Amino acid sequence: MTAHTIDGNALSKQLRTEVAARTQALKAKGVTPGLAVVLVGDNAASQVYVRNKVKACEDSGLHSVLERYDAKLTESDLLARVHALNQDPSIHGILVQLPLPGHMDAQKVIEAISPAKDVDGFHIASAGALMTGMPGFWPCTPFGCMKMLESIGYDLKGKHAVVIGRSNIVGKPMALMLLQKNATVTICHSATPDLKAMTLQADVIVAAVGKRNVLTADMVKPGAVVLDVGMNRNDEGKLCGDVDFEGVKQVASHITPVPGGVGPMTITMLLVNTLEAAERAAN
Ligand code: GUN
Repeated sequence: MTAHTIDGNALSKQLRTEVAARTQALKAKGVTPGLAVVLVGDNAASQVYVRNKVKACEDSGLHSVLERYDAKLTESDLLARVHALNQDPSIHGILVQLPLPGHMDAQKVIEAISPAKDVDGFHIASAGALMTGMPGFWPCTPFGCMKMLESIGYDLKGKHAVVIGRSNIVGKPMALMLLQKNATVTICHSATPDLKAMTLQADVIVAAVGKRNVLTADMVKPGAVVLDVGMNRNDEGKLCGDVDFEGVKQVASHITPVPGGVGPMTITMLLVNTLEAAERAAN
């Protein structure tokens, strides 16, 4: 079997067309969805990420502002900026790019964002809403994974999903989203004694560790769906995921590539969340 590749660029394009149409409809009512992206310091990867986020907003007709601050900015000055953005009616979503410089308490900064504007879905109010099935913003990467499963018409009810990784940003919210769709969910992590024994039972595997070749073909049940959240570099310096794509695609029924899989979906779901925040504010 050669797996069907789930194309994150194509799905993103389709979803962003829908975002653009909904944005135009909201603009016609006098509301332009607005995202504020806050970057502190000069982390090279973060600079690329925030540029891509701002550009994606522009391309879909959303308003966006990029606020850049020196790495020496104090935590209290950053908190003051977040409070000001909370009060700014032209801003519906606030994203503080992580990591923050070491002298700042990232969780404290995230908790300062109004939950109504927490389009990253990192606030504990958002995490609690996801856990209890209440309305709130879902973290963009696992949300994008759910959209990818939806795009192939996959019914999770009664299926066994194995999530590899337990981060607050991907692994844990991913598990809750899969559970909400009635999957039986196992979370594996660095202290799981026999990862292969777990993944071999899985109908769906989400790899979100940040390490190459965490998942190889011998660990995958024939016909499983494999989503790769990893972003790594191989020995030649090329972008690769956590999954041995060439091997696993011979066993899986569906697989996401890196690049061009989950990555573009993350930014797309940020646009969706920002639009949703603006629609909620408008109503
Ligand atoms: N750093 C890496 N990914 C993300 C993300 O999705 N949101 C924020 N705020 N920071 C990040």
